[in-house]
Amino acid sequence: MTPAEPTPLVIAVDGPAAVGKGTLARRLAGHYGLRHLDTGSLYRATALRVLRSGGDPAGEAEAAAAAKGITDDDLGDPALRDEDVGQAASVVATHGAVRRALLGYQRGFAARPPGAVLDGRDIGTVVCPDAQVKFYLEATAEVRARRRLCELRSRGVESIESRVLDEIIARDARDRRRSAAPMKPATDACRIDTSALGPDEVFVHAVAIVDARLSST
Ligand code: DC
Repeated sequence: MTPAEPTPLVIAVDGPAAVGKGTLARRLAGHYGLRHLDTGSLYRATALRVLRSGGDPAGEAEAAAAAKGITDDDLGDPALRDEDVGQAASVVATHGAVRRALLGYQRGFAARPPGAVLDGRDIGTVVCPDAQVKFYLEATAEVRARRRLCELRSRGVESIESRVLDEIIARDARDRRRSAAPMKPATDACRIDTSALGPDEVFVHAVAIVDARLSST
């Protein structure tokens, strides 16, 4: 008899825009030898396809058709990081048909050995409700706006802090209020407020939580 494959380790990292999910998820994946999926890039790629074809992100059928066509090749486009694409991503993400179209890709990614770290809004609640460890990161909108501004400037994009803050507040509201898989902490998620923490402190804290979870199973 061949020994059974070990169950893939899945770590969910959820939270609002610019809270540091991507940084933490990438570092956790490197540390534990797992693959990393930024699930926001799937919604951004869907939005980009709709925008480039001159469509309206608010149209569910068109956005769902775009989501069904997403492949790995769509996920490396630098335009995915543009702020207008982020806003449009938050609009296409309100459509149940879009979310259903992207679910199989995300679950398939998580299921492949040795496992994965997925960051997003609904990983712990909908995409991977059985993830062994779930994080939900939080920080004030003001702190996140300053972080996003620094990130934009490092890419040579000039913006005004008040505008970035308004966009973050608008996106939070849309992501939280939608009826399809709204952004919210899973009941069993470890919540970390990163407002006063640097990326290294968040990482060390998260590793301690994962290690404790792994040693107890
Ligand atoms: O994480 P991000 O900023 O790249 O995400 C862009 C948008 O995609 C976000 O405003 C909401 C949506 N999204 C989602 O609804 N569910 C996810 N798992 C990831 C992102």
